[in-house]
Amino acid sequence: MHQFAYKNGILHCEDVDLSRIAETYGTPTFVYSRNTILADLEEFQHAFAGLDTHIVYAVKACSNGAILRLMAQRGVGFDIVSGGELWRIVRAGGDPAACTYAGVAKTEPEIRYALECGIYCFICESENELRTINSIAADMGKQAPVAVRVNPNVDAHTHKYITTGTHENKFGVDISRIEALYATIAAELPHLRIRGLQMHIGSQLTEVHPFVAAVQKVSPLVAQFKNLYGIEFWSIGGGIGIVYDGCLASGSADWWRDHPEQMSIRSYAQALIPLLKPLGLRIVLEPGRRLVGNAGVLLTRCVYEKNGESKHFKMIDAGMNDIIRPALYEGYHEIWPVREHSDEGILADVVGPICESGDFQAQNRRIPDVKPGELLAEMSAGAYGFSMSSTYNSRPLAAEVMVDGNKVTLIRRRQTIEQVVEDEILSDE
Ligand code: LLP
Repeated sequence: MHQFAYKNGILHCEDVDLSRIAETYGTPTFVYSRNTILADLEEFQHAFAGLDTHIVYAVKACSNGAILRLMAQRGVGFDIVSGGELWRIVRAGGDPAACTYAGVAKTEPEIRYALECGIYCFICESENELRTINSIAADMGKQAPVAVRVNPNVDAHTHKYITTGTHENKFGVDISRIEALYATIAAELPHLRIRGLQMHIGSQLTEVHPFVAAVQKVSPLVAQFKNLYGIEFWSIGGGIGIVYDGCLASGSADWWRDHPEQMSIRSYAQALIPLLKPLGLRIVLEPGRRLVGNAGVLLTRCVYEKNGESKHFKMIDAGMNDIIRPALYEGYHEIWPVREHSDEGILADVVGPICESGDFQAQNRRIPDVKPGELLAEMSAGAYGFSMSSTYNSRPLAAEVMVDGNKVTLIRRRQTIEQVVEDEILSDE
């Protein structure tokens, strides 16, 4: 559930009228609901209360320091994938000792930095990487905590660009090779300490059965590694999906009652806890999207409209540089006017200012017939929205604000064009 709803005909985030935010901070602006994030986090903590768990928030989903700080204050660790993300955690006051560090191509400076900071565990994705970490740790006189990401070859049935757990993907080590690899670590790499095992099968899963299948498939291996190497944790990754189509309605408890097919944090926990508990070790969870996705919207303004030969277009001031999900993954985001409409709507493409045909936020969609100057909210934009944005077409990065009740806090100033070009060097020639 989230806290975006119409009140007196105006879309609000918690108690704040979104048009007020547009007036103060301009558009496009990402707006996050603090209490939605906290409620989802509490739901996670509560759902897994009976199990020894450690939640590591997947920083890549939304890496604003204010959000990281909020998570850190609630005792959450972090799933990081670069030295830069680790640096952000340190800056936000997070604890490196609560961080797992994944990614297929960690570089030597990144590995050194993570060892200096004392992270909880490296999640390794190849033998080559393990050997590199071993020699860097030797050089630094340390022992590096490691886990290997096992690829269970289970199809997550999600978009092909965000499925990760099959033989086709670059991620992890094939399940058929993992036993030999752990034996190699134990026998040949003395500067590594085997601490756990990890898997992650994909993102935006809306059904529980691929998770169940993967847990059932990998569990025997976990039990075996606990006996052989004394591993202390198993990370079962992230990937819990959110509501994109039906997002606005899903802000109410009734919607959840009427849609039992939508995987909730509770149904995910209820299906997995009985399978995980008998293993008797710490279960690490790596949610990203589920903690922030429905908690954020992109506030944008309709700039123009036009009728093409066969289509009607609404042009908005947010582009694929602000949210790339529709262009990259055929992602679907609901688009709602800030001022409620009662018209029957119009079939339109909602497009941005970028010079690419792929720069659309909605295609052939019936939307309220908003006019130039009106504000719109692109829903479910909290995850992989700002964090994937760019300055393509020399467009400064959007602003980000956080709402708490009736209070609005700017958590990232809108970038200026001077900041966009400040590191460029004009050649004399
Ligand atoms: N753990 C690992 C190892 C991951 O690779 C990911 C996401 C997560 C956890 C968090 O997954 P989540 O709970 O957020 O599904 N940009 C894409 C999603 C890419 C996901 C990458 N890995 C999108 O916008 O759909």
